[in-house]
Amino acid sequence: MEKLIDAARLAQKNSHAPYSNYKVGAAVLTEDDTIISGCNVESSSYGLTCCAERVALYSAISNGHNKFKALAVITKDGGTPCGACRQVIWDLCGDIPIYISDENGKIYKTTSKELLPKAFDGSSMK
Ligand code: THU
Repeated sequence: MEKLIDAARLAQKNSHAPYSNYKVGAAVLTEDDTIISGCNVESSSYGLTCCAERVALYSAISNGHNKFKALAVITKDGGTPCGACRQVIWDLCGDIPIYISDENGKIYKTTSKELLPKAFDGSSMK
């Protein structure tokens, strides 16, 4: 998982966060062991901001990947994914391990299910 966390750390450096200055990096591991990363991208119209987790996942989907094995997220304080990202992670990844790291390299391992218990998803719409 070190490579995945390293990729998230590299992406964090590209974070565009001039308003919050809260830099986030994320990286997703695909079924075929490709690593795709993303960072948060903020807009002056704050609501248009996209979180690092979603940038990474949408980029992976855009590049033809649709099965994911793990996700890494890095922030200065080890902050956990926001509610919107938890929903998207659940929708696109199901229950996968999530590695959350702070700037000192302290890693907290959790899962999508733990972050979003009793999740709503597409199965309700069948
Ligand atoms: N942010 C993320 O990138 N991921 C999260 O899960 C939490 C929040 C970003 C959005 C915004 O650019 C900044 O962190 C502060 O909210």
